[in-house]
Amino acid sequence: MTNLEVDFCGVKFRNPLVLASGILGVTGASFARTVEKGAGGITTKSIWKNPHPGHKNPTMFGNEHYFMNAVGLSDAGIKKAVSELGDYIPKRKAPLIVNIVGGKKSEFGDIAEAIDDLSVKPDLLEVNISCPNVEDELGKPFACSVSDAAEVTKLVRSKTQIPIILKLSPNVEDIVSIAKSVEEAGADGICAINTVGPGMRWNIDLRKPILANKVGGVSGPAIFPIAVKCVYDIYQAVKIPIIATGGVCTGRDALEIMMAGGTLVGVGTAVYYDGDDFWHKATDEISEWLKKEGIKNLSEIIGLFHKK
Ligand SMILES: Cc1cc2nc3c(=O)[nH]c(=O)nc-3n(C[C@H](O)[C@H](O)[C@H](O)COP(=O)(O)O)c2cc1C
Repeated sequence: MTNLEVDFCGVKFRNPLVLASGILGVTGASFARTVEKGAGGITTKSIWKNPHPGHKNPTMFGNEHYFMNAVGLSDAGIKKAVSELGDYIPKRKAPLIVNIVGGKKSEFGDIAEAIDDLSVKPDLLEVNISCPNVEDELGKPFACSVSDAAEVTKLVRSKTQIPIILKLSPNVEDIVSIAKSVEEAGADGICAINTVGPGMRWNIDLRKPILANKVGGVSGPAIFPIAVKCVYDIYQAVKIPIIATGGVCTGRDALEIMMAGGTLVGVGTAVYYDGDDFWHKATDEISEWLKKEGIKNLSEIIGLFHKK
């Protein structure tokens, strides 16, 4: 059996494939099943300070090329999440990444503090400053501004010793400047990318938008080339590790985006396509490829495309 272990910010993952944020809520039972099925780690959906309603149904639409969602970050708030996670964290069999979000900068600090107060803490804290389908409600995501992104990073950094990962948006002019600003402000890692867009689709017979929210963030296979480019560019500019996310559907995709610069690989939409089978199929494909190439350790392939 090939060794697929990777180290991310001092945390050991038995393989690099982690469940991306928003796919399986904050439910301990689904997390445990996903780990049993082969995921290397788990990310919770974005957790708010107070309950947040999200958008009206239908909130999702997909085909074999892409997926669109306007879930709108619906969540029952930090108190409920803490009661779920408080039970799950001590029993977890793979690293847990808790993802947090806020409408105001100060809320990020409050949630980080609440998570830091847990008696058994998660392994990593992911800070979502990049959701593209809540702009009407909250204005431009903090990931769209170098100074806002840095400010949120500094605030969260000041509230916890848990390593923090800033989740960036591809929907910006210059993702590299944002990546550098969060690194300078104290981020331990970066997650790139959140969904693209937002995009829009209509039903021509009904003359109605398919999503009740009209627009939604685009994910899945169609965004893979954008994710690879963002990860490639960020890797060249920063020293902190990257959770490469966006459109990964196979083990070969995971290898490609690791060679572009990802240490871990986030997987969201592919889990809707393949269900629990995704994890073993993809890790088997990675193991077989490494064996065929005579590569013993995944550290040899991270950032490989940058080596002369
Ligand atoms: C239904 C759905 C819900 C999502 N919810 C969140 C969320 O709560 N927080 C977040 O940071 N990202 C969220 N995302 C973005 C994903 O974590 C991921 O960054 C994006 O979908 C690209 O990866 P993929 O193509 O593998 O899905 C969500 C994505 C989908 C499809």
